[in-house]
Amino acid sequence: MVSDKIKQIIRDVPDFPKPGIIFKDITPILKNPALCNEIADALAAQLAGVKVDVVAGIESRGFLFGLALAQKLNVPFVPIRKAGKLPYKTIQQSYDLEYGSATLEVHEDAFETGQKVLIHDDLLATGGTVVAASALVQKLGAEVAGYSFLINLDFLNGKDRLKVFSDKLFALADY
Ligand code: PRP
Ligand code: MG
Repeated sequence: MVSDKIKQIIRDVPDFPKPGIIFKDITPILKNPALCNEIADALAAQLAGVKVDVVAGIESRGFLFGLALAQKLNVPFVPIRKAGKLPYKTIQQSYDLEYGSATLEVHEDAFETGQKVLIHDDLLATGGTVVAASALVQKLGAEVAGYSFLINLDFLNGKDRLKVFSDKLFALADY
């Protein structure tokens, strides 16, 4: 099972980036091309029956498999970036993180009205990041088609904050 492989290979780093946080380090996955391909296939397979017009991936770790997923689904990819990185006209949304706060941006022409946008990130923790991404999708008149993660830290209940946008939440590995 791909979930077992992910759990075996992920490296838990205690007290990063601050005391009390156990960081889920996915970089060992990236050194295994066969597993990366298997993960991209599994992310796409979970979305069978879900209408997806666009995949939006969140900087930075959501870029790693977000583009791969978009390619598997044969749909466009949109980067949602941290403030100050995108060159064209943007809209912004601030959010709180498990550690600190930040602002996300997307190009104002990233989505078309009514498009169904699948939001992808590597990991769901408190949900603050994908709630901000969802707000950006809605501000541009598009809809959240669902959420796709490699890892869901289910004990943090981030999923409860996503239901107002979409009830479709997919993750390959739950903790
Ligand atoms: C991490 C992770 C998710 C987010 C999850 O990203 O990659 O994007 O936090 O947390 P949340 O559900 O509590 O919002 P981070 O902001 O550390 O940046 P990175 O992806 O650039 O490493
Ligand atoms: Mg991230």
